[in-house]
Amino acid sequence: MTGGPDGRLDGRTAIVTGGGRGIGAAVARELTRRGARVTVFARSAAEVDGVAASGGAALAVAGDVSVEADVVRLRASHERVLGPCDVLVHAAGILVRGRVEVLDPAAWRRVLDVNLTGAFLLARAVLPGMRARGRGRILAIASISAHVGTAEGSAYNASKWGLVGFAKSLAEEVRGSGVQVMTISPGGVATRMLAQTPFPPAMEADDVARVVGWCAAEAPDAMSGSDVEVFG
Ligand SMILES: NC(=O)c1ccc[n+]([C@@H]2O[C@H](COP(=O)([O-])OP(=O)(O)OC[C@H]3O[C@@H](n4cnc5c(N)ncnc54)[C@H](OP(=O)(O)O)[C@@H]3O)[C@@H](O)[C@H]2O)c1
Repeated sequence: MTGGPDGRLDGRTAIVTGGGRGIGAAVARELTRRGARVTVFARSAAEVDGVAASGGAALAVAGDVSVEADVVRLRASHERVLGPCDVLVHAAGILVRGRVEVLDPAAWRRVLDVNLTGAFLLARAVLPGMRARGRGRILAIASISAHVGTAEGSAYNASKWGLVGFAKSLAEEVRGSGVQVMTISPGGVATRMLAQTPFPPAMEADDVARVVGWCAAEAPDAMSGSDVEVFG
């Protein structure tokens, strides 16, 4: 477990991508509430700055999860200001909808770059430190879309199915090292992203954040490799 027996994360630090709004911002607030010192990361500097200014995070860094240099800079800034990273939550994500015959190949690549390759770049950045300390938790927000097919959702769903496969493989690579890896798959959450779809919200971002907080601090180590379904 990364947290104390009471589920607290005092003395721990976390990086939350997509932390400027929606689920990522709620996760940052939840981890902060549990005592962690959190860095929020997204492209919109004004949004991550706003989360930090309102007390939802200790540090805000602007950048793009699909750009390796930005991810390396994120890790370096986090370590310089807050110390080694104990918990990574990859909540950054984008949705581009469209039938396969009309979806722009550039949009397909962009969705995979942000949602899936971003997770790979982030894990590469934080893993050596976690392994060296024998402790860490790598979490990523997948989706109900990692469990089903959706018309006009091929790129997004492929990225999320891929994210679950990536996390399960990484969990095997780090088994026994003290590092655990999990995905969390919410159903419809009332955020700007869901507003792009015809689907109604089933829950609020804070509902998902409580599950992520539990995964970060309290979930048994033996759950490494699992995908936690937050839908019914
Ligand atoms: N809402 C749902 O129903 C739902 C359900 C299941 C899973 N999810 C997943 O939950 C996660 C959060 O989604 P949300 O609903 O909270 O959406 P959201 O409100 O649109 O927030 C997405 C966040 O990701 C950031 N982001 C996007 N592209 C980025 C990039 N290239 N680099 C860094 N940050 C980037 C955004 O900031 P910038 O635009 O400023 O970069 C924003 O902070 C996503 O992975 C999404 O797929 C959502």
